[in-house]
Amino acid sequence: MVFQAPKLRIIYLLISIFLLLINPCATQIFFNYTDFNNKPIIRTGNATISGSVIQLTPDEVDNWGRAIYSEQMHLWDEKSEKVASFTSNFSFIINSQGKDRYSDGITFFLSTPNYPVPSPTDGAGLGLLSRNQMNDATFLAANKFVAVEFDTFPNEEFDPLNSVREHVGININNLKSQISTPWYCTIKENRTYSASINYDSSTQNLSVTFTGFNYDNTIIQQHLSLVINLTDHLPESVEFGFSASTGLISELHILSTWSFESTAPSTIQQSPAPSVEKNKDEPKTKLVVGLRP
Ligand SMILES: *[C@@H]1O[C@H](CO)[C@@H](O)[C@H](O)[C@H]1NC(C)=O
Ligand SMILES: *[C@@H]1O[C@H](CO)[C@@H](O)[C@H](O)[C@H]1NC(C)=O
Ligand SMILES: *[C@@H]1O[C@H](CO)[C@@H](O)[C@H](O)[C@H]1NC(C)=O
Ligand SMILES: *[C@@H]1O[C@H](CO)[C@@H](O)[C@H](O)[C@H]1NC(C)=O
Ligand SMILES: *[C@@H]1O[C@H](CO)[C@@H](O)[C@H](O)[C@H]1NC(C)=O
Ligand SMILES: *[C@@H]1O[C@H](CO)[C@@H](O)[C@H](O)[C@H]1NC(C)=O
Repeated sequence: MVFQAPKLRIIYLLISIFLLLINPCATQIFFNYTDFNNKPIIRTGNATISGSVIQLTPDEVDNWGRAIYSEQMHLWDEKSEKVASFTSNFSFIINSQGKDRYSDGITFFLSTPNYPVPSPTDGAGLGLLSRNQMNDATFLAANKFVAVEFDTFPNEEFDPLNSVREHVGININNLKSQISTPWYCTIKENRTYSASINYDSSTQNLSVTFTGFNYDNTIIQQHLSLVINLTDHLPESVEFGFSASTGLISELHILSTWSFESTAPSTIQQSPAPSVEKNKDEPKTKLVVGLRP
């Protein structure tokens, strides 16, 4: 936008600040990383920074890694019954470097803060949890997760038996996906995939768009979505990020870029007569520095 005078710019700034203050969908968290050096990302397990990217696991057996954002997201607010919306866009590489047999995959997850490490180390749970923890009702009740998995290995106990072994699924506190679809990827080669995960709290639609490859190597867009009330499945504040694992066989897992945006929990638009009054106990919304066009 071109401004004719500094005065106009100030007026524009004041109007923007005012709009941000009264806007119930003000941004809570926003970032856009194309280089992970010196960023507020917490790595655990075998995850390391390699150049500008995060190597969630090396191409070595029995490894797992996570990379989560250092701040929690305020996903919903019990008192006001408000829920946040968010979008997580990322690009990643899963590469078996020519090997025909490989495992296990990557997730984008939201979970109870300080989610325990997988114990014992176990590839099947994609860096989130082990089979033992999966079968422990007390563990699952205390530690909740919702994940979108990019799973490259079909575990016959809980994965779909498609002709395409790689699949993308939405997992609700379970390694067995609530819904899943074949993923047309080429893990033997060094290829970069993109994904966009969006949760719209007004429709409760958790939707995933991700890339795959056609036989002629052209990129295709694939989709998966699930209507889900996240307040039923996650605490009010969650940690969020990525996990990956390898097991008896392996592949390289790399997170190349990540951009993320969430709104502060806001009234679900479908509810009758949204209240204008602000709850005094409500946490203050963080304002994003910088103006949007
Ligand atoms: C993130 O940064 C990239 C590279 O600078 C830019 O192309 C992209 O538009 C940005 N995305 C958002 C959502 O700001
Ligand atoms: C992964 O972490 C485990 C536990 O710290 C360690 O024993 C193993 O050597 C690491 N793997 C690699 C490839 O560094
Ligand atoms: C894999 O592709 C990425 C992205 O294009 C590139 O940065 C990296 O060097 C490639 N790795 C290998 C081993 O070729
Ligand atoms: C959820 O969003 C996806 C992507 O926009 C859309 O294709 C799907 O129809 C939506 N689901 C519902 C139930 O509205
Ligand atoms: C979502 O679940 C919560 C907790 O069970 C419930 O209070 C709320 O009414 C549900 N929201 C909708 C829109 O169904
Ligand atoms: C994520 O990608 C979608 C679709 O390209 C775009 O509209 C949105 O602005 C992106 N958001 C972030 C936070 O990168």
